[in-house]
Amino acid sequence: MTKSILIIGACGQIGTELTLALREKYGDVNVIASDIREGTDVLMKSGPFEILDATNYDALEDIVMHYEVEEVYLMAAMLSATAEKFPERAWTLNMNSLFNTLNLAKEKKIDKLFWPSSIAVFGSNTPKEQTPQHTLMEPSTVYGISKQTGERWCAYYHAKYGVDVRSVRFPGLISWKTQPGGGTTDYAVEIYVKALEKGSYSCFLKKGTKLPMMFMDDAIRAAIELMESDGAKLSIRSSYNLGAMSFAPEEIAESIQAVIPTFTISYNPDFRQAIADSWPSSIDDSQARKDWGWSPEFDLARTTAEMLENLR
Ligand code: SER
Repeated sequence: MTKSILIIGACGQIGTELTLALREKYGDVNVIASDIREGTDVLMKSGPFEILDATNYDALEDIVMHYEVEEVYLMAAMLSATAEKFPERAWTLNMNSLFNTLNLAKEKKIDKLFWPSSIAVFGSNTPKEQTPQHTLMEPSTVYGISKQTGERWCAYYHAKYGVDVRSVRFPGLISWKTQPGGGTTDYAVEIYVKALEKGSYSCFLKKGTKLPMMFMDDAIRAAIELMESDGAKLSIRSSYNLGAMSFAPEEIAESIQAVIPTFTISYNPDFRQAIADSWPSSIDDSQARKDWGWSPEFDLARTTAEMLENLR
């Protein structure tokens, strides 16, 4: 069955791989990539591409109508570290793009919406280990506040207007095709790049900062599997906890040293340390496993092997 899918923020870290995966699955012409800026050649030339500012409702609606879009993946957002520098811009982008797509669904102009939340919805008063699905949430970052608020709006639009919105709380995402920008977990990508370029890495988080992480292939599969699952089985319409692995900088360094024995790491924490300290160390994702069969495939050793091989 073919359907028309729109990716918003298609040139970003998740959007690039998600677009290519969906094109592979549903056919190049049926997956419309959009972003506020241009992306890689492979992304822009493998199927339809539109320049789109997702905070502009009319522009978004035009594209949805033109391509008869049925499903939207809204991946545009300002991440945690950048959002601390531009609080109002982050709030405008993260919230208005969500409202615009939720309203399209409310008006039945699209059938289904995927919107990612994040481990940033949790705060320093949240239990750190095996953080439960339902728990105390007091985010301390602009990004976390926008994601937590977004979750409440998703649940509200589902309950009040029957909007079919689906969401996961992504941990830090590790990828080699497109690098992340402006996140607190970005060190877990930079470390591989620097290991190959320089043989050493100066980490902006300190030793012992254990955070939940995931390899991009797992993240893409999670989004698509959740969107394809039976809606009647989904008990969470705010956002599902999602886990794969957890590690601290010294552990990722050790896994690199197993392949590149001369690799060295040093620690120079900056303002991102406080953000990382407020987030969980590991995630209880049993509700996602139960409701739609979530199961991750990549651990740290496999992630390191994939990253080093592909970045080379
Ligand atoms: N990876 C994101 C960040 O660091 C968290 O969702 O901002």
